[in-house]
Amino acid sequence: VIHVALFEPEIPQNTGNIIRLCANTGAQLHLIEPLGFSMENSRLKRAGLDYHEWATVQRHADLTHFLQNFSAPRIYACTTKGKKSYTDFCFQENDILLFGPESRGLPALILEQFQETLLRIPMTANSRSLNLSNAVAVVVYEAWRQLGFK
Ligand SMILES: C[S@@+](CC[C@H](N)C(=O)[O-])C[C@H]1O[C@@H](n2cnc3c(N)ncnc32)[C@H](O)[C@@H]1O
Repeated sequence: VIHVALFEPEIPQNTGNIIRLCANTGAQLHLIEPLGFSMENSRLKRAGLDYHEWATVQRHADLTHFLQNFSAPRIYACTTKGKKSYTDFCFQENDILLFGPESRGLPALILEQFQETLLRIPMTANSRSLNLSNAVAVVVYEAWRQLGFK
């Protein structure tokens, strides 16, 4: 299984889209708190998610608590500041794809911690960033493709 981790996500519609994406691709979604919204948020509910889609979501108090669930985690930190394209990585079962909050991106300390595996989705010159849920979709589908859409 591929793990998708959203670090302190802020916008409920994005998380709603990503819940559905993960349900549709069999990825495991992890939300790392604090969240910028309540899980009761009406905009999250309006994403039209079914009960079984919610069932796959796990919440964690912070990044440290999340990582305690893995013995030797391979973590890809997805950032516009990455040097290597997502197409240059060889993804494996149980890999973790980590994404930053919409307004701030991943904090510098986390980028430093995972500097060997910073992953970038190419964009045209002078572009700022992709929408969070679009970025997750691009990388999850590439990882799942490499695993043979199992
Ligand atoms: C809206 S972006 C954050 C923008 C923030 N102002 C910044 O400069 O990082 C939200 C998240 O989507 C992901 N993302 C967006 N565009 C990306 C790209 N081109 N390559 C890799 N990740 C990207 C990253 O995980 C990022 O933290």
